[in-house]
Amino acid sequence: MITGAGVSAESGIPTFRDKGGWWKHYRPEDLATPDAFARDPHTVWSWYDARRQGVARAEPNAGHRALARAEAAGCRVAIVTQNVDDLHERAGSREIAHVHGSLWQTQCTADGRVVDDRRVPLPEIPPRCACGALVRPHIVWFGERLHEPPLARIAAWLAEPWDVVLVVGTEATFGYIHEWALAAKRRGACLVEVNPRETSLTPACDTRLPGPAAEVLPAVLPGQSTA
Ligand SMILES: NC(=O)c1ccc[n+]([C@@H]2O[C@H](COP(=O)([O-])OP(=O)(O)OC[C@H]3O[C@@H](n4cnc5c(N)ncnc54)[C@H](O)[C@@H]3O)[C@@H](O)[C@H]2O)c1
Ligand SMILES: [Zn+2]
Repeated sequence: MITGAGVSAESGIPTFRDKGGWWKHYRPEDLATPDAFARDPHTVWSWYDARRQGVARAEPNAGHRALARAEAAGCRVAIVTQNVDDLHERAGSREIAHVHGSLWQTQCTADGRVVDDRRVPLPEIPPRCACGALVRPHIVWFGERLHEPPLARIAAWLAEPWDVVLVVGTEATFGYIHEWALAAKRRGACLVEVNPRETSLTPACDTRLPGPAAEVLPAVLPGQSTA
């Protein structure tokens, strides 16, 4: 399973393509970069604080819950998500690799230490480490390398055979998303795209299920009657 911002859209969390809020004034490419943070940590952290507040208010939707139900029913479900929210976890899914990090972790810019921080709203912007240095969101910004722990989990998953890889609610902008999907396909997985629109990955998919994730996933995943 590979998921992107579209799986959380129906929980009211805007994708980077939606128009409104911060997206009217800033492009993610102008905020989610090491340069933007070096220049203006206050603005970058204000954006993340607003996103943390949005996620804290949101609830998992029927799509997140359908994935968790399939896993609870005994189906092997591993989720590779580009999302930085925690809605898969809150729906009850257990096997999740966050490719781009989490809104709920920060990293000290001096000593590199990663800690959980769930305070909403943040009492101080930009927030600081106990050592006095600035902390940054523990999120993979444009131009940065992916974090090792999720990469290791994904490599282990790709060594297993999978019947199906669902690619849900992502533009698949990043080359590694294509690589992982195609690696699973080469090993025999059926590649199925769930998205109201076509994407750059559509031509490589065996099947396309057009529609919103919250409608399509409960209709196609196994184990839904155990709810
Ligand atoms: N919820 C989040 O954590 C969140 C939100 C916004 C952006 N992001 C970040 O955005 C980056 C962009 O990548 P991306 O490909 O995930 O998102 P994207 O914004 O580039 O694309 C969203 C995709 O979802 C599809 N979509 C929209 N509504 C949908 C629905 N109801 N059901 C199914 N699909 C739907 C769209 O057609 C589009 O293909 C990632 O790095 C991610 O970290 C994350
Ligand atoms: Zn520190």
